[in-house]
Amino acid sequence: MERTLILLKPDCVERRLIGRILARFEDKGFNIVAMKMLQVTPELAKEHYAEHVSKPFYPALEKFITGAPVVAAIIEGLEAIRVVRDLLGATSGLKAAPGTIRGDYSSSRQMNLVHASDGPEASAREIGLYFRKEEICNFALTITPWLRASDEG
Ligand code: CMP
Repeated sequence: MERTLILLKPDCVERRLIGRILARFEDKGFNIVAMKMLQVTPELAKEHYAEHVSKPFYPALEKFITGAPVVAAIIEGLEAIRVVRDLLGATSGLKAAPGTIRGDYSSSRQMNLVHASDGPEASAREIGLYFRKEEICNFALTITPWLRASDEG
C-alpha cells in the first residue's frame, strides 16, 4: 500500500473543480486518508518546489501557487504514486491524453490543476510538509473486498 500527496491547485479551486477531481480518485478505488484547504505561502512554495526554484518559470509558478487556496490530500492505495500520476496525465494540459484529468480539464502547462508526488522520496517529503502525523486517518474502506481480490494486496 502506498501514499501520495496531491495538491488541488489554485486554478482547480477557483474553477470549482474540487469535487469533480476528488471524485476521479475515489472512483478509481483510492482512499483519501487526510485532507485540508490552506493558503500556500512563498516560504512553503519554495520548500515544496525546491527543485524548481532556480528555473526561469519559478517566479510565475510561485505567484500562481500562492494566488488562491489549495486543497492538500493524501491518497492511499496500491501503487498510488504511479497510478495517481497516470490519472493526472502529462504536465501540460495541451499534451495530456484525453481521459486524464489534465487532458480533460486543462489547456495549460502551468495551470495544470493538480500536483502529485513523483516518487516515494518526494511523497514522504511532501506529506511531511503539509500534514502532521495526527492529521492522517489510518482506516480501511469497508468496501475494500469489492475493490480488489484479497491476494492483490
Ligand atoms: P507540478 O506537477 O506541480 O510540478 C511543477 C509545476 O511547475 C508543474 O506542475 C507546473 O504547474 C509548473 N511548470 C512545470 N513546467 C513549467 C514550465 N515549463 N513553465 C511554467 N510552469 C511549469
